[in-house]
Amino acid sequence: MGSRVRGTIVGLLRAASRHMRRALPALGLGAGVVAGLTLAFSSSTPLQAQNSYNYTGVASCAGSTCHGRSEGNGAIVRQDEIATWQSPSGVSGAHSRAFTVLQGRRGRQIVRSLGYSAADEAANCYGCHATNAPGSDRGPRYQMDDGVGCESCHGSSIGWLESHYEVQGTHPHNVANGMVPLERPDVRARVCLDCHYGSSERGQFVTHSMMAAGHPRITFELDLFSSFQQHHDVDEDYIQRKGRPDSVQLWAVGQAEAVARATDLFARPDTGMQGVFPQLYFFDCHSCHRPITDGEERRLTFETNPGRPIHFGQPPFNDENIIMLSAVADVLAPARAEEFRSAARNFHASMNQGRAESQQAAVALREQAQALSGALAARSSGADAFTVVARIGNEAISPRFTDYAGSVQAVMAIDTLLNAMVNDGRITLGAAAGIRANINNAYDAVQSPEGYRPAQFRQALGQAVTAIGRLR
Ligand code: HEC
Ligand code: HEC
Ligand code: HEC
Ligand code: HEC
Repeated sequence: MGSRVRGTIVGLLRAASRHMRRALPALGLGAGVVAGLTLAFSSSTPLQAQNSYNYTGVASCAGSTCHGRSEGNGAIVRQDEIATWQSPSGVSGAHSRAFTVLQGRRGRQIVRSLGYSAADEAANCYGCHATNAPGSDRGPRYQMDDGVGCESCHGSSIGWLESHYEVQGTHPHNVANGMVPLERPDVRARVCLDCHYGSSERGQFVTHSMMAAGHPRITFELDLFSSFQQHHDVDEDYIQRKGRPDSVQLWAVGQAEAVARATDLFARPDTGMQGVFPQLYFFDCHSCHRPITDGEERRLTFETNPGRPIHFGQPPFNDENIIMLSAVADVLAPARAEEFRSAARNFHASMNQGRAESQQAAVALREQAQALSGALAARSSGADAFTVVARIGNEAISPRFTDYAGSVQAVMAIDTLLNAMVNDGRITLGAAAGIRANINNAYDAVQSPEGYRPAQFRQALGQAVTAIGRLR
């Protein structure tokens, strides 16, 4: 477990420089995608009317005059999107590898440990590791082993494939025909969270059993992860068509949607429980996975957390996004902050009561999170990144970093917010580079779950926050 977390989150975060992404070599096509296909739909009957399927497959996007160029020219879109998506070793290529990783050693071992048949594997694993359209919905070029293809995020393309590159085609027109408006932070968050947290549909849920069988933990932060897989340029024409992306807003809405998703899944009967226990996926992993010794002295391996009014020694709900959203709300949506905080406290406290009470409290918290998401998505956050950073490090929020997952989320937040300040021209690249060492120290403090020590983490985070504050 530990080494995977190290290999993924931290390796990933370490390479976090957004400036590295464009250094990816442009690569030829391989795997399931055929190079140089050109679209050959010349009939005047719309594609949609001719066919009964919705998913056309990655190969349908791969034309050399479409998204299959080896290097982008960026006239309108880069056109080398497939090469970025397919990067064989880079982070940006993870989605194209998502299906084939199931065949690898770790994938096989998980499936074997769970005693899955091929049908069980398809039902429980493909929902996140492929576009996984139902059989009747697959066009002739659809291939499962394309993994998480273009249509997993941009939506099934039958309704807009032919029209989206027409000169008179507009984004609203495409959206009306089924393209997913991923420029909208709330929409994008929900698309990513289906797989990067879980959903109640299509076998998109990683249970604690899967994790016990070896599935890696899932860490996610919308803005940071968006930048790792980014395959478009934010240039003048992009801004004109879709507006200027706002990283702080993306981050904030991502937190709100993550809280809404977690509480929704927790409240549901199918995903909320496993046998007599609540589904352990939702709880702080290390509250249970801790060594104990039977000495006379009590050996303290956990800290009580002021944000969680639960009985001593009870596993806490993993509140990494709840903590972040508290900080966000204080700064960006103060009118709603108190209500959210009290719903969050009630939710934690309901764990002392019963299943029905905790379901009710989860629904109430979900409603608060959804209201916050709406409020945050409707406004541009602009100049608030410094205030949010200060808030994350202040005396109300910082004592709530007592566990590993919450701490990882906090470092990702600081990283995202610092990048946002650079992108917005509020601080220079040089100034940000000077702070990098502090951020890396905070990353070091969450390098491995086993080595995590709350007090040391809070100190490292505090130093990073102070250093950023000095740039103001
Ligand atoms: C809710 C969506 C979801 C489901 C369901 C799911 N996975 Fe995953 N899986 C992920 C995500 C997301 C990652 C990447 C985690 C990370 O690195 O942050 C991942 C990572 C993996 C990896 C590691 C890949 C690598 O690059 O090393 C393997 C292997 C894997 N999953 C196998 C499975 C198997 C087998 C199943 C079914 C038992 C399954 N997954 C079900 C979302 C899911
Ligand atoms: C993991 C989700 C995901 C996958 C998979 C994905 N994209 Fe994207 N794509 C995005 C997001 C997010 C954006 C940025 C928001 C936007 O402009 O829609 C984007 C932007 C784009 C843009 C720029 C749009 C513009 O208006 O300038 C193009 C073109 C594009 N993607 C094509 C593709 C192609 C082709 C594939 C398949 C090889 C693909 N994408 C796979 C999420 C994804
Ligand atoms: C259909 C499921 C699905 C959707 C939707 C999805 N992802 Fe993923 N994503 C995965 C899986 C599975 C992996 C792990 C694949 C692997 O390890 O090869 C992954 C990996 C990643 C990685 C690399 C992480 C790592 O640890 O290497 C990034 C970054 C990422 N996704 C970002 C996003 C973003 C941003 C969105 C939304 C715009 C998104 N994903 C939507 C399934 C999905
Ligand atoms: C409420 C307690 C509890 C929580 C919370 C919990 N687990 Fe577990 N975990 C267990 C138990 C019990 C087992 C089975 C141990 C046994 O059979 O000896 C287990 C087994 C495992 C194993 C297999 C360990 C082995 O030695 O083979 C892994 C890996 C694991 N859990 C990961 C996680 C992750 C990741 C999380 C957080 C998402 C988590 N657990 C949350 C109680 C918990």
